[in-house]
Amino acid sequence: MNIILLGPPGVGKGTQAVIISKEFNLCNISTGDILRESIKNGDDFGKKIKHIVESGALVPDNMIIELIESKMKENKSYDGFLFDGFPRTVKQAEGLDKLLERRSEKVDAVIAMNAGDDIIIDRLLARRVCPQCGTVYNLLTNPPKDGKHCDVCGSELIVRKDDNRETILHRLEVYRESTAPLLEYYKDRLITIDGSKSVSDVASSIIASIGRFSNANG
Ligand code: AP5
Repeated sequence: MNIILLGPPGVGKGTQAVIISKEFNLCNISTGDILRESIKNGDDFGKKIKHIVESGALVPDNMIIELIESKMKENKSYDGFLFDGFPRTVKQAEGLDKLLERRSEKVDAVIAMNAGDDIIIDRLLARRVCPQCGTVYNLLTNPPKDGKHCDVCGSELIVRKDDNRETILHRLEVYRESTAPLLEYYKDRLITIDGSKSVSDVASSIIASIGRFSNANG
């Protein structure tokens, strides 16, 4: 089963990807996490894309498709893929179709999460991340115990470079222009989820929908 988590920045895709991939034994591929890891490592690819990612623009489609192709080869013991933040353009969606076709597979379901801009902006301004182990917090809804350090590994939490008001507004614009057309592209396998509810309510809705979907499709 191959599933895409689609939705605007900050709607909660990454948070849900961790839960859903465990629930269905899926290989969780987050392009944002992979790109930030390259930037952190300072490799050639990371140097090339740093300014693009930090400005909230999109990394070129061909680079992303190559990245996905190599990540998909690493999948060994999972029951499919969960794509978080990919595809983000129709060109990337067409690229993914080709990669899956070669494996005689397809995109089975697309979870479209939505929430109002006000909720999204509040969530992103309050997001804090652990630079060491990647755990994501929220000062309003899921704060770390001491407000500053990671509960898991103790590292000092940071604000993502693209989590400032100006860049968030730009990311929302980029989403509407380049990514929202995918709602039409995937209209025959779209499951719409209200992302404004609590993390556990959203997770329950997604799990129930995928369950219904996979029962109906054998
Ligand atoms: P990416 O990392 O994918 O960023 P994004 O799509 O903007 O999404 P976010 O990670 O900001 O948010 P999210 O929806 O995962 O929310 P989260 O769960 O963290 O991409 C970053 C950049 O990389 C892009 O701008 C682009 O430059 C580049 N890029 C990536 N993929 C690309 C591609 N395919 N093509 C080209 N370029 C690409 O939640 C947000 C906050 O809210 C957290 O604090 C969380 O704790 C909290 N929260 C989550 N759910 C809830 C809830 N239900 N209730 C209350 N709080 C919640």
